[in-house]
Amino acid sequence: MFILLAVAVGLLLPSGVKSIDTEWLLSNLGTKTPYDQRKWDADGDSDPPKACLSTPSHIEVLARHGARHTGKPSSMDDLATALTALGSPLPWLDDYKYSGGEVDANMLLPLGVSEHASLGSRVKDRMGVGFFEEYNPNLLRFNSTSIARAGQSATSFLQGAGVQSPFVVMVPVEEDWGMRFYDSCDAWDLQTNAAVDEVVNTYVATNEFQSALKQFNSLLKLPSGIKASFSQFTSSFEACAYDLILSDDDSKFCSLMSEEIVQVNQYITDLKKFYQYGPAFETSRNFTAHLFKDLVESIEMGEGGGFKGTLRFAHAETVIPILSAIGVFDADMLGEGGGLSPEKRDEERVFKSQKFFPFAANVVIEVYECDGDKRLKFLVNENEISSVRGCGGEVYCRFGDFKASVKDLLELADEFSLLEICKVV
Ligand SMILES: *[C@@H]1O[C@H](CO)[C@@H](O)[C@H](O)[C@H]1NC(C)=O
Ligand SMILES: *[C@@H]1O[C@H](CO)[C@@H](O)[C@H](O)[C@H]1NC(C)=O
Repeated sequence: MFILLAVAVGLLLPSGVKSIDTEWLLSNLGTKTPYDQRKWDADGDSDPPKACLSTPSHIEVLARHGARHTGKPSSMDDLATALTALGSPLPWLDDYKYSGGEVDANMLLPLGVSEHASLGSRVKDRMGVGFFEEYNPNLLRFNSTSIARAGQSATSFLQGAGVQSPFVVMVPVEEDWGMRFYDSCDAWDLQTNAAVDEVVNTYVATNEFQSALKQFNSLLKLPSGIKASFSQFTSSFEACAYDLILSDDDSKFCSLMSEEIVQVNQYITDLKKFYQYGPAFETSRNFTAHLFKDLVESIEMGEGGGFKGTLRFAHAETVIPILSAIGVFDADMLGEGGGLSPEKRDEERVFKSQKFFPFAANVVIEVYECDGDKRLKFLVNENEISSVRGCGGEVYCRFGDFKASVKDLLELADEFSLLEICKVV
């Protein structure tokens, strides 16, 4: 009886591969993880100091767009074809078809619309009665990058917040040093791409990666001696994410995942993001200069004039450098180094896409009036944080302290064009 059972299980899963739970998978899809308002701060919100009004008078938001279609629908189908050509006998690969068409490429999914609509509704509740309802585009500003999914996210948020006839400014790419500072900067691309290549190649050579690849090959039932490539390994993880968020289907690409394969893929994603947009390079911090200037000016416009804030809808590439610049991430938070199990690596590193920059990731700054002083409260994915650089561990950070901590960036935005740093010399 025991032997029979063991044989039956052995037929389903290669030895040593833990089966995977779809709920767990849904919260471990790297940058493609749906936003589910996950509360990692169990204590909830703390009250403002006595001198402050109990509801904020002003708001600043920076959000990533919500869940979206892949940018290359046909490459999903090509991946399935290539895996069959490699020798995988899995029948579903033969008729695999990505369920969105070319016209949907990069557009927001229904899931992305609801992520932002429900975020908008919760932010509205936090701001108190009238804040969004008494909307006037001269007093409350909505900016989006010129990319459609960011604009769609803005309008979904506004619907959720109950704003009547909203107006969204779409900032043209060539003027967008505030939100798309990473576009067309050749010197930065060269520096970060080289660093990414190096760390990823080093990681691919480790037992940790090779053992996950071996599991992947056996889940594909590849003939012995045949190995999937690095890009087939990582693209299958992405394809699994799209199968789940698009069609709730865990029977296709997700059947090629184990916990270990998922953890290794998330780490590879994080390695790339850390070196491209995270705290690894000073250039990435310098690039946030225009956004911080916009933010500080927007808060100062609130003084006396009744200006209520700016809400910005952009990309992971915008959110990551900001989180790094305010001190949520530091240069030692990737948890690099050999000899860890994928599970331990996942537990130990702070810089995690699934936690900090899933779809619809957001940084909300609430501004409180406190006896002639202003205090800023930072929320990351709706969790208040007390670790903002310059704020002395206080959740309700003095505006003056915060400004002092980004003084160099504010000067940088005034001093010279960032285009200078982007020249390849
Ligand atoms: C937002 O839009 C306003 C109005 O067009 C513009 O002045 C400002 O620079 C924009 N801010 C960002 C961060 O794009
Ligand atoms: C970043 O800006 C500072 C000035 O605030 C400058 O001294 C430094 O060289 C810049 N770093 C890079 C890599 O451009």
